[in-house]
Amino acid sequence: MLFSAACERNKQPILEVLTQRLPEAAQVLEVGSGSGQHAVHMARHLPGLRWQPSELAAHLSELAERLNLEGTVGLAPGASIAEPLELDVTRREQWPDGPFDAVFTANTCHIMPAAAVPQLLAGAARVLRPGGLLLLYGPFRNGDEHTAPSNADFDAHLRSIDPAMGVRDARELGRQALTLGLVLVADQAMPANNRTLVFERQVLADAPSR
Ligand SMILES: C[S@@+](CC[C@H](N)C(=O)[O-])C[C@H]1O[C@@H](n2cnc3c(N)ncnc32)[C@H](O)[C@@H]1O
Repeated sequence: MLFSAACERNKQPILEVLTQRLPEAAQVLEVGSGSGQHAVHMARHLPGLRWQPSELAAHLSELAERLNLEGTVGLAPGASIAEPLELDVTRREQWPDGPFDAVFTANTCHIMPAAAVPQLLAGAARVLRPGGLLLLYGPFRNGDEHTAPSNADFDAHLRSIDPAMGVRDARELGRQALTLGLVLVADQAMPANNRTLVFERQVLADAPSR
């Protein structure tokens, strides 16, 4: 079964952020669920949670493996994990209808091609309810500055594998998000030089067409 050591380390700090930020019985869409460890951990601790995992077609069966084994065991009262969806953020037709209280994604922005990141933001803006939250967990830089040497090394490593990958600029994300009606409301420091960027979907009088 697919297993991520990073997920084991970050799932509890992420749970603490979600506990603080999500409403009761939240409906959450997760993008790029990977091994499913976040889905299972959150559903074991957040009562009433409805978690919708998703992945690229190529990784759906690995995700389903964990969810089939663990996705119904020891969940918090009223919590559930839905059947995982196929979702490539660049495929508009694959986005579910929503509305969701939150869209969560961990360690995906630096892996998906740079050109896909605005599509992640746009998709989240479409499916979130007004007041809903987009939570991006992972390493981010500020302009050209990395927040730690290890993140600079990681960025260089990613770009050497594929120039389309790389640690994203939180300020640029904030600017792009704003044009979509997503306002940065928190930038929470997380262990190991990671961050959770929290955006809130505003109700715009003249919403731009997306
Ligand atoms: C480093 S893994 C992180 C997985 C999991 N969220 C975690 O924290 O362990 C990056 C994930 O991004 C997903 N991904 C890459 N490109 C994507 C895209 N265009 N749309 C949706 N997910 C994508 C990959 O399939 C992969 O599962």
